[in-house]
Amino acid sequence: MFFSRRGNLVGLDMGSSSIKLVQLKELGKGGGYALENLGVSPLSPEAIVDGAIMDSGLVVDVIQNVFRENKVKVNEVALSLSGHSVIIKRVSLPEMNEDELAESIQWEAEQYIPFDIQDVNIDYQVLQGDVPAAEGTMDVLLVAVKKSKINDYTSALSQAGKAPIVVDVDVFALQNAYEVNYPAEPDLSLALVNIGAGVTNISIMQGTSSVFWRDISIGGNQYTDTIQKELNLSFERADAIKRGEEQPEEGTERLQQIFNQVSQDVTSEVQKTLDFYKATSAGEAVNKLILSGGSCRIPGLQEMLAERFGVPIEMFNPFQVIQVNEKKFPPQMIQELAPTLAVAVGLALRRTGDK
Ligand SMILES: Nc1ncnc2c1ncn2[C@@H]1O[C@H](COP(=O)(O)OP(=O)(O)OP(=O)(O)O)[C@@H](O)[C@H]1O
Ligand SMILES: [Mg+2]
Repeated sequence: MFFSRRGNLVGLDMGSSSIKLVQLKELGKGGGYALENLGVSPLSPEAIVDGAIMDSGLVVDVIQNVFRENKVKVNEVALSLSGHSVIIKRVSLPEMNEDELAESIQWEAEQYIPFDIQDVNIDYQVLQGDVPAAEGTMDVLLVAVKKSKINDYTSALSQAGKAPIVVDVDVFALQNAYEVNYPAEPDLSLALVNIGAGVTNISIMQGTSSVFWRDISIGGNQYTDTIQKELNLSFERADAIKRGEEQPEEGTERLQQIFNQVSQDVTSEVQKTLDFYKATSAGEAVNKLILSGGSCRIPGLQEMLAERFGVPIEMFNPFQVIQVNEKKFPPQMIQELAPTLAVAVGLALRRTGDK
């Protein structure tokens, strides 16, 4: 279910702050893609909380809106999940053939998945990349997603009149968007860091292999919550101030302090993940960060990450190799939205035949 590549489905990233839609058109002979449709519809903060749909009516309305407003005709969707109900592990198993693996995977999974195996959908893939497995063993990527969570998201889509065809995971979609847009660099060890509202998705790649995945529960909401509490404001006003659309009455000094303080927390959480990766893998230390997600635009955050990790920081451009008609999609709009659309682009690359 989770691993197929390329595609012509509508990519729908159902984030907790907004639903993002991207539709791509596969170009003929020369290959490549053109942007066909794009839409972002805000979700009120009580609709999806901690990755769980709390108000499905709101979510269904917003899904319908984003399709309607952008006149999207295709109803087949690739969506993705993230957060606590998704477990991704690279496990080392004794070498075996496909049938043996299919037979034993459920049992193997039980040892690695902290949920009741009856409650999750399991998928797996034998890894063949730059990082060789130890003699007599094979590396297998194991993915488990809670059935209840898949069900919540796919039913919201069905209620909105759309067909959920591919259920992916944020970190894989992110990686997919990266692989399509950027050339593989064998010596590079990079972390894709997608800083959203409630979740930060991290995917570490070594050369052409992806080697580590993690979702951490931190993001833009932390800034909004702190501004809201410290300056005694509504969520909406705090969020607008955070995005620089409104000015706080008490001046910007306190705001700068809050940005700084929360960015320290975000940076430390990212560091914990990178440290864990370093301690548990034989691979190279990360030597570049590629940032995406709406919250990578917090003033000063990029500089703080650069300073803490001492590595170059780049902004993810998910449209780097995708043809964009400037008349239909003004460059300024694309530039503004691009960082938040990485997951949606990764999803839009999936195709109907995919599981
Ligand atoms: N210009 C900006 N400056 C700072 N923060 C911003 C800006 N624009 C958007 N954000 C924040 O980015 C976050 C939204 O990013 P994104 O769309 O990547 O998250 P999401 O996919 O909706 O959420 P999640 O995946 O965490 O559930 C929100 O917290 C929003 O307030
Ligand atoms: Mg997101």
